[in-house]
Amino acid sequence: MLVVTICVGSSCSLRGSDELASGIQRLIVKEQLEGLVDIVGAFCMDACSKGVSVTVGSREFSGIRPEDADAFFYREIFPLLSNNELVRARS
Ligand code: FES
Repeated sequence: MLVVTICVGSSCSLRGSDELASGIQRLIVKEQLEGLVDIVGAFCMDACSKGVSVTVGSREFSGIRPEDADAFFYREIFPLLSNNELVRARS
């Protein structure tokens, strides 16, 4: 299971963390990756200055905007799963 953690602290919430989480969840459903990705919330990840803070597994990102959900998903999340045996079996 790939864990994607999205900060829901006050600064990130004001910058659209809920909208970003919804966008990523929509893409998970679109790509039929339910059960392979777990989206969880976290409080302040000490990187408030630019935009929403996100971790994908052990990799940390900051400054992610809700409107970047598609690009972020296909650049940082989808490639980690596209080689997964379950994904291959579904295609
Ligand atoms: S509120 Fe999200 S990193 Fe601080």
